[in-house]
Amino acid sequence: MIGPSARARRLPVYAVGEIAERKRRLLADGVDVIDLGAGDADLAPPAIAVETLYRSAQETSNSRYAFQLGLVAFREAVGRFMERRFGVAVDPMTEVLPLIGSKEGLAHLPFAVLDPGDVCVVPEPGYPAYLGGSLLAGADVEIFPLTAESGFLVELDTLPPERLTRTKLVYLNYPNNPTAAIAPADYLRRTIAVCCKHDIVLAYDNPYSELTFDGYQAPSILEFPGAMDVAVEFHSLSKSFGMTGWRLAWATGNSEVLRALSKVKSYFDTGAFLAVQHAGAAVVDRAEELVAPVRDEFCVRRDALVNALRDVGVECEPPQATMYLWVPLPDRVASGAFARDLLEREGLAVLAGSVFGAGGEGFVRLSFIVAPDRMREAARRMARVLHTAVATGDGP
Ligand SMILES: Cc1ncc(COP(=O)(O)O)c(C=O)c1O
Repeated sequence: MIGPSARARRLPVYAVGEIAERKRRLLADGVDVIDLGAGDADLAPPAIAVETLYRSAQETSNSRYAFQLGLVAFREAVGRFMERRFGVAVDPMTEVLPLIGSKEGLAHLPFAVLDPGDVCVVPEPGYPAYLGGSLLAGADVEIFPLTAESGFLVELDTLPPERLTRTKLVYLNYPNNPTAAIAPADYLRRTIAVCCKHDIVLAYDNPYSELTFDGYQAPSILEFPGAMDVAVEFHSLSKSFGMTGWRLAWATGNSEVLRALSKVKSYFDTGAFLAVQHAGAAVVDRAEELVAPVRDEFCVRRDALVNALRDVGVECEPPQATMYLWVPLPDRVASGAFARDLLEREGLAVLAGSVFGAGGEGFVRLSFIVAPDRMREAARRMARVLHTAVATGDGP
């Protein structure tokens, strides 16, 4: 009988992809859909990206395979950015690796550093690629519940000693999706120390480093002593520059890990389109100037959504980073059913907390990615469904 492998069957459904299909059908039926689901803003990419892509696509040499080497100019631009922005010196040839979006690198990493049965610590709620890559690579996944009481931090020292000694990889993501939590410097220092002590690869997923507000500046993990011995950090052009569909990102950090990841990737892909890498180099070299208006726009949208929700009686705190509000639901309202109702009855797409693992139950994630007037409308729609859900005790 033809059918999916046991590995494929163990993967949970990828909910964001399903919403795209459901949204397409609603739009075809004439529904006025507001999409606060994926972390995918309606912002234009920088003009310099479009112009450079246009020019570079006309050069025949850019139509060739990029391989894992990719565009040296992109690697070098990344090196300059890491130095300028974080004061971290990296060798562009050995400590930088171009990726076809950071999701790709994050999901391939377990194949590069884990053997079947090695423990991989995956935060929950968390970005689903950590779990997917680990399951596919045959890892023994240790789900680490993130809770508000502990600042949504992964504390490796709280694992049972026999699990900690078998741990080979941990994913950390601050500023965090979906909770928007940020990591204090002393937390990062002590986590690096634990990873150094137990030879654990620390995958630091940092795509929101530039989307910070109210004066907060997110660090790179590589700023901290000892990090280069254990850490690889993932950055992306997707979120900071409105370039989600361009599929360009990079990993930087420990050269041994990057060498292994590059080797694994060379069996899955042959590099991002070189013309896109040219555009990426141009953008990364002007990152600070280009991201400033993006950050301002997200800040306006964040405040608009927080205020609109408060106006309809939903209390939530404005996050210091990311493009997400992590909103608690009243007791007994199940996030999956609630998100389904919102989409079907009101044409409002949000992500159920359960999409980020069972630990996300009781919450929904709203992305502040559309214009303020649309978010005010979204809040009104959410309030209507919330009131009926509470009235019917539509619980888990
Ligand atoms: C925490 C986190 N990591 C990685 C990604 C992947 O970004 P991309 O593959 O577009 O670089 C996302 C996207 O939503 C994310 O939220």
